[in-house]
Amino acid sequence: MKKKIRVDLKKRSYDILVCYDEFDKLGKAVKQLKIGTDAVIITNPLIKKLFGKKVEKCLLAAGFNVRIETVPDTEKAKSEKHCIRVLNNISKLDSSSRRIFIVALGGGVVGDLAGFVASIYRRGIPYVQVPTTLLAQVDSAIGGKVAIDLGMGKNLAGAFYQPRLVFSDVSLLKTLPKKDLISGLAEVVKYGIIKSPLLFTTLVKNYKKVLKRDKKILQYIVYACSLIKARVVEKDEFDNKNLRVILNLGHTIGHAIETAGHYSASYSHGQAIALGTLSASLISKKLGLLSQKDYLRIRGLIKNIGLPTSLKGLDVRAIFSAQEHDKKFIHGRNRFVLPVKIGKTIVREGIPKSLIKDSISSLLWI
Ligand code: GLY
Repeated sequence: MKKKIRVDLKKRSYDILVCYDEFDKLGKAVKQLKIGTDAVIITNPLIKKLFGKKVEKCLLAAGFNVRIETVPDTEKAKSEKHCIRVLNNISKLDSSSRRIFIVALGGGVVGDLAGFVASIYRRGIPYVQVPTTLLAQVDSAIGGKVAIDLGMGKNLAGAFYQPRLVFSDVSLLKTLPKKDLISGLAEVVKYGIIKSPLLFTTLVKNYKKVLKRDKKILQYIVYACSLIKARVVEKDEFDNKNLRVILNLGHTIGHAIETAGHYSASYSHGQAIALGTLSASLISKKLGLLSQKDYLRIRGLIKNIGLPTSLKGLDVRAIFSAQEHDKKFIHGRNRFVLPVKIGKTIVREGIPKSLIKDSISSLLWI
């Protein structure tokens, strides 16, 4: 059964629909929004092969003209080159009798690019997120941060631009590669730690079912995480009230691990976030803020899910130096989200360098 979460952002409010195998409802849901006549689906070749026809069919049935634009299945899609190419193709299709909107069909990369394209084409056209990965369903499709990468770093050209609908059909996760499912679970663990002891305990008790993609548990997870994200975004849409920052738990060291690995295959985003969450938990434990018991519960869950709990093949100095260049620095001081118990975090600035180094080094041998 379809479940709905309203993201209340005044004029920019929208629904997140969480359902299972209800793709036929997408056309009607989009039609109700009255956002245009012509849908441009932005996706990648693999997702196009898996779900392109299905999505196209239901949009055609709802009376839309449909065009599909494909971008590479890697971070390369978030480049100036592909962004401009897609914009040019949309402009060729455009005419006075058409009203174009965008459908982002894919994971976080497609969602970020498609949302960014939507935010700048004619100074903004509507877009709908149809996330196809766990990570995108629980996190990146919600919240309106859209961006592409520049030569100097990831997500440097971006905007806050909310979608008009997020349509999360959890049945799409059936074909998701296991490593991507596990990677997405790192963000799910994050939500449990920052806001929901119930979600955390449910994961502890049911992680085997989750890994087997049990329909009920996956729907619960996507719904619970979407609700948390929606409520956080409502309170701090533009990330300037120090509230949205809690969603960055594990991301400070996590991004540094990704950067030190040069976004190579060394660690996936989820694996890096899991390691980042562990180092934040270690810092918190050393500061006397997190109990040993909760630290071990966090570590145990990360391990059971199949995420890494130790770091191999990367240099501590490279990670530390990447962390020092992190954009999360505030007035030259580092800023960490630290768990204080399951379901609660605090934000601390100016964590001593020695403690950060120690927490990264500890990951080498624990
Ligand atoms: N697009 C992800 C976010 O807004 O947080």
